[in-house]
Amino acid sequence: MSEHGGNVLEMALKIGTDAANIIDFSANINPLGMPESLKVAIVEQLARAEHYPDVEYRQLHSALARAHHCLPENIMAGNGATELIYAVVQYLQPRSAMLLTPGFAEYRRALQRVGCQIHDYAMSEAEGYQPNERLLNTLEQQRPDCLFLATPNNPTGLMPDAVLLQALVQCCHQHQIALIVDEAFIDFQPHAPGLIPQLTDFPRLYVLRSLTKFFAIPGLRLGYLLSGDLAGIQQMKQQREPWTINAFAALAGEIILDDQPYIQATHQWLAQQQHWLYQALCKIPALQVWRGTANYLFLRCLRPEIDLQQALLQHHILIRHCANYPGLTRDHYRVAIKSATDNQKLVTAMKQVFGHG
Ligand SMILES: Cc1ncc(COP(=O)(O)O)c(C=O)c1O
Repeated sequence: MSEHGGNVLEMALKIGTDAANIIDFSANINPLGMPESLKVAIVEQLARAEHYPDVEYRQLHSALARAHHCLPENIMAGNGATELIYAVVQYLQPRSAMLLTPGFAEYRRALQRVGCQIHDYAMSEAEGYQPNERLLNTLEQQRPDCLFLATPNNPTGLMPDAVLLQALVQCCHQHQIALIVDEAFIDFQPHAPGLIPQLTDFPRLYVLRSLTKFFAIPGLRLGYLLSGDLAGIQQMKQQREPWTINAFAALAGEIILDDQPYIQATHQWLAQQQHWLYQALCKIPALQVWRGTANYLFLRCLRPEIDLQQALLQHHILIRHCANYPGLTRDHYRVAIKSATDNQKLVTAMKQVFGHG
């Protein structure tokens, strides 16, 4: 079974229904759907499929560099951020790495593939599932070759404290620890600059971005890695297999970061629905909910006798259980924030499950 959300087909088969009948809260995809500007461009440029993409993806890298005010040489685009997690690990060849738990599963898989020794830094509920000074101390003591951080984190949706994050950047720089910061969900925060503006100051900093969630193109797939380590970026580009980004994904990257109306509409939708869903779920006594900053919310079911995923499936709603995240249990869940109508359906179904309906 997949370690990720979005497994609607498997769940639909399990309960004997069509996948189309299930509302998928398990994958965190912008409910506005892919930008209209992109649909039009793909249709107009269907003939791109008849040619090999530029193996260097020059136009794509230039567009991404323009959007982030850096050089194309600072950027390597990939078939989703996932490809780049594997690429950066392959390049760094770390002997030891530190991972925060709970966290996204692919860091571990990529590190295991190169035989890296992994030290888990467990974030507890008592610490609010957030890193704190203890992480700085642990890094000082253990001095791993690399550290992965997700800002915001998945599945919690939480951003680390800004002062702590800066101290972590400094600490990694001082001790030559490669710091890979995963900003796959950061664009959902309208004014978060992330760490891209600091790339030139910290050459062992690697920032991951994804366009699959914000622009609702997980099937098209596009992500990118940015770093001030120009030699590293060049080496990764040389090591990669050719043409991993298809022509339409490359086209997407060339145009969607300029689609301001779509970006604003997304921020507007999320500002309303994040607040609404958080408040509505907090009112359910059987749930503990964390105030995430992304397009999903992390929660714990306080009624351990209830398997919330199974119970909601009876209402044709699929949520992500987090039992397979190291450090979490069957009582932890993640729900995507979707349209107002779908969010209301989720809350109504939750209330029915808990007998408050
Ligand atoms: C934190 C995090 N990083 C990276 C990714 C990978 O994204 P992509 O679809 O760009 O490969 C995901 C996907 O769920 C994620 O949750």
